[in-house]
Amino acid sequence: MVAKIIDGKALARVVRQECKERAERLVRSGCPPGLAVIVVGDDAASQVYVNNKVRACHEVGVKSTLFKFPAAVSEDEILVRIRALNQDDAVHGILVQLPLPAHISVRKVLETISHHKDVDGFHLYNVGSLVVGNSIFPPCTPYGVQKLLQSEGIAVRGKNVVVVGASNIVGKPMALMLMQQEATVAICHAQTRDLAQFTILADILVVAAGKPGLIVPQMVKAGAVVIDVGINRLADGSIVGDVDFDGVRQKASHITPVPGGVGPMTVTMLIVNTLESAERTHGVAQADSALVNA
Ligand code: GUN
Repeated sequence: MVAKIIDGKALARVVRQECKERAERLVRSGCPPGLAVIVVGDDAASQVYVNNKVRACHEVGVKSTLFKFPAAVSEDEILVRIRALNQDDAVHGILVQLPLPAHISVRKVLETISHHKDVDGFHLYNVGSLVVGNSIFPPCTPYGVQKLLQSEGIAVRGKNVVVVGASNIVGKPMALMLMQQEATVAICHAQTRDLAQFTILADILVVAAGKPGLIVPQMVKAGAVVIDVGINRLADGSIVGDVDFDGVRQKASHITPVPGGVGPMTVTMLIVNTLESAERTHGVAQADSALVNA
């Protein structure tokens, strides 16, 4: 079997076109959607991600404002900026790019963002809403994975899903979302002994470990759906995921490439959440889209 490649770029284009129409509707209603992006320090990957987010916003007509702080900025200065953005009616989403320098408390920063504007879905209120199955702002990367599965018509209910990686940003929310859809979910992480004994059982394998080449064909069940969330830069400058793509492709039924799989959807779902926030705030009728609202 040679897997179908799930084209995240193509799906992102479709959803972003819908976003453009939603943004235009908001503008016509006198409430142009706005996103504030805060980045601290000069972590190279963070700069790339943030620039991608700002560019994508511009393309669909969401006004983004980028706040760049030096690595030595005080925690207080960040919190003051967030509180001002909480009060700003033109801002519907606030995102603080992670990681932050060690002297800044991630928890404090995330809890200072108004949960009404927490388009990353990282505030405890929103994490709690996800736990009880009533998500308000689903975290963007797992939300993007969910859309990719839906767009391919891949049913989740009753499936064995294995999530490799237990981060707050991807692994944990991904597992909760799939459990909510009645999948049987296992979460593996860096301390899992004999990873293969779990991954081999997966009908759907979601890998977000940040380790190039972690998943090889012997670890994958024939016909499995393999979603690679990893983004790793190799010494030669190339970008690869966590899955041995060429090997696993011979065994899986579906696989996401890196780049061009999950990545474009993460940015897209950030825009979806920002539009959702603006529409809620202003009571604007939502887009009639089975895909975006599914
Ligand atoms: N760092 C890595 N992924 C993310 C993300 O989805 N949101 C934020 N804010 N920071 C990140």
